[in-house]
Amino acid sequence: MHKDVERILLTEQQIDDKVKDIAAQIDEDYKNTVPVLLCILNGAAVFAVDLMRKLKIDTEIDFMQASSYEDNVISKGTVTILKNTKISLEGRDVIIVDDIADTCVTLTYLLDKLKGYNPKSIKSCVLLNKLDVRKPQEDIKIDYKGADIPNEFVVGYGLDYANKYRDLPYIGILKKSVYERK
Ligand code: IMP
Ligand code: MG
Repeated sequence: MHKDVERILLTEQQIDDKVKDIAAQIDEDYKNTVPVLLCILNGAAVFAVDLMRKLKIDTEIDFMQASSYEDNVISKGTVTILKNTKISLEGRDVIIVDDIADTCVTLTYLLDKLKGYNPKSIKSCVLLNKLDVRKPQEDIKIDYKGADIPNEFVVGYGLDYANKYRDLPYIGILKKSVYERK
């Protein structure tokens, strides 16, 4: 285990099982169409490509980058689009693939923006969902979800703190001393 990790929340094997479960659901729901997996960079990159490789249906992938955290552990609450999609989403079945639903400021913003491109359908898929963050009235519908996790700052499997730890094969809680000594 990495020295900056407090404890492991999901092992490599557990993540693999969750991604397989999500892939099986998407395979079932998108039998007659080729959905666009819209990966939200950078955090969802690892998850999105693993998911794509586990799907039996045909898919296309595109990437979007939004920023709300920068080097913080708390969301700034405002979203900027740093990279937009290349594929035309008009009339397409779109699945937004993100790493984690925290405040959902990002997902809410992106869902709203993407609706403006007139997709045929749009669904959300996240590997992790943080519990006890959003008030019921702020909640959004997450269509595919890997796991609910406690409200802690986590890293690994694509998730970072100041761009570090994305390469860890597991998901772990980051030691508070790492960001509190800043
Ligand atoms: P939200 O808008 O607060 O739901 O979160 C936006 C983005 O912040 C997520 O897609 C992640 O990339 C990042 N994020 C939120 N929580 C964590 C965390 O615990 N660890 C690492 N990144 C996180
Ligand atoms: Mg992200």
